[in-house]
Amino acid sequence: MTNEKYYITTPIYYVNDVPHIGHAYTTLAADVLARYQRLQKKEVFFLTGSDEHGQKVEQAAKKRGISPKSHADELVSGFKALWRQLNISNDDFIRTTEDRHTQTVTTILNRLWEKKEIYADTYTGWYCLPDERFWTEKEIVDGLCPDCGRAVEALSEQNYFFKMGQYRDRLREHILNHPAFIQPESRRNEVLGFLEKPLGDLCISRPIHRLSWGIPLPFDHDYVCYVWLDALVNYISAPGYCLPDSDFSKCWPANLHLVGKDILTTHAVYWMTTLMALNLPLPHTLFAHGWWTIDGGKMSKSRGNVVNPGALIETYGRDAFRYFLLRQVPFGQDGDFSENILRQRINSDLANDLGNLLSRTLTMLERYSEACTPKQIVGSTEEDQELKMTTEALYDKVDHLISDLAFQKVLVEIWQVVRSANRYIEKGAPWLLAKDPGKKERLQTVLYYTTEAIRIISLFITPFMPDAAKEMSRQLGLPEQSSDLSLKEKSRWGHLPPGLSVSKGVALFPRIKTSENKENTEATPSIKKKKQQTALPIKPLITIDDFAKLDLRVGIVKTAKKIEGAKKLLLLQVDIGTEQRQVVAGIAKKYAPEDLLGKQVILIVNLQAATIMGQASEGMLLAAGGKEVLGVASFSETIPAGKPVR
Ligand code: ME8
Repeated sequence: MTNEKYYITTPIYYVNDVPHIGHAYTTLAADVLARYQRLQKKEVFFLTGSDEHGQKVEQAAKKRGISPKSHADELVSGFKALWRQLNISNDDFIRTTEDRHTQTVTTILNRLWEKKEIYADTYTGWYCLPDERFWTEKEIVDGLCPDCGRAVEALSEQNYFFKMGQYRDRLREHILNHPAFIQPESRRNEVLGFLEKPLGDLCISRPIHRLSWGIPLPFDHDYVCYVWLDALVNYISAPGYCLPDSDFSKCWPANLHLVGKDILTTHAVYWMTTLMALNLPLPHTLFAHGWWTIDGGKMSKSRGNVVNPGALIETYGRDAFRYFLLRQVPFGQDGDFSENILRQRINSDLANDLGNLLSRTLTMLERYSEACTPKQIVGSTEEDQELKMTTEALYDKVDHLISDLAFQKVLVEIWQVVRSANRYIEKGAPWLLAKDPGKKERLQTVLYYTTEAIRIISLFITPFMPDAAKEMSRQLGLPEQSSDLSLKEKSRWGHLPPGLSVSKGVALFPRIKTSENKENTEATPSIKKKKQQTALPIKPLITIDDFAKLDLRVGIVKTAKKIEGAKKLLLLQVDIGTEQRQVVAGIAKKYAPEDLLGKQVILIVNLQAATIMGQASEGMLLAAGGKEVLGVASFSETIPAGKPVR
């Protein structure tokens, strides 16, 4: 360890619905940075969590007829399951309903109240329900919320206010004097623009008769704390602000708050001024990234176009998904999601470039180097020098680009080396050298240079694709990378130990079948025949009209839980676009409830309802297998809930 700490956070996500690709994006970016800083031997604290109070969550729970806490408990497990599935290496997960958090919020509210940073006043303003915030007459645009564009309603009530306005000049000064404070540049300018106007005070309370699901104000129990103030405090409650013997002073200030551009103002203004009022230092950087859209438009439940990360990971693998999200769009800019482009990237960058480089090198080591890593040889050709130089130059480039959060450029730089190594093999043509006994030394040189380049490539892809990097090391026979060396040291040319047994494994990234190459990849006639021989007898014929009677729809599993006393059954709530259906499914032996959250399924929606183990079942999932369920039917594409299946 360098003893240098690195504290990184993601937003804590609302648990009003299951996670989608946008949530996965921010958390993934934070994970890559956390993993990179760990490679740099920094002491990393990577925090994510869930935002569980407020109207959105209260309303979502009400809709389901359960308590907000039970609702939150269920939804949180879906987020946690997705983070496991995506290989997120967070060190802590904070829930705003935990004691450690509510206590900190209470202490902070008391402190601010005692310091007279909070006062009571009657407020008349325009309230945006979805955003849970007030706007002044001047701020609203044609009767709509200036932030989200939805309708606002007039409200007048007694409330408590944080004296935020008094910090405007100090905040502006700080932004101007610290160019790295708000990034990217466009967002920094946006905040500076916002601060050109007078800054009002912030309403930090909600009357309990309107909203009870929140942390009570310690100085007036008729009110709960505004969900945003509650939520922002997570960044200091998790590392133990106010708690004796905590690591807080070691962690704070955070190095990086990573957020989406939608929550820039709440972080840049509300949070930073709160920290000023608490006399706490400000974080080093707040970075607001861009937005994923679908067909150029917003992703939303009502449009039925929400991209489900769990289904994509299941289909394409988590490393491919991780690579695509950060490779496709420059971080900070908006990008349109396309599953087709995801497939193309997997085939070109991962299967062709990287996978092929590893697999052909291992084949050559097996053939020409007794399946061992070659000994170090100093090459003398121009090609040798070029490959060594581009590979060695990677560290400085990557390190600089990572500090700018330029993930796409990092991956482009790594792939320059991947492609250089592939070109080097083409030019060196080891298969020809192997035919000439006089070229043994040259053959070993080419193999050494290629293998050493791959070793170094695997180090740099580790934060992006941890599984693939591990598998590359395993196939190259590399021992666990020493934990004493930093990335800079490990990535120096010449660290490849000679004589390690290499073992070619399965393809790192199998090619994805696309519609163009489907015909070529059909099963051979002999396999088809075998399948027919073992097939079950086919049921009597039905007509197309019989089939048309079935109403099959795409559904998304919203919640899943075990049914007490039934080993095989799970109780699911499935969204079918227009409504939610409760389904009892006999799939508990194959799936844990959390595996199913957000999963796309095919549901027969016009099957007569049945009661199973005392639970109403309003549909049936399609699944493969007989007595033993092998898997539920789904699509590799993300298809909106409710779409018919024919
Ligand atoms: O705002 N593209 O939670 P939230 C990219 N609880 N990123 C996206 C995205 C998209 N289409 N949609 C969502 C909240 N995100 C508060 C935060 S923090 C103290 C409280 C990501 O569940 C992005 O990071 O609405 C965005 O800022 C966040 O999810 C909003 O998540």
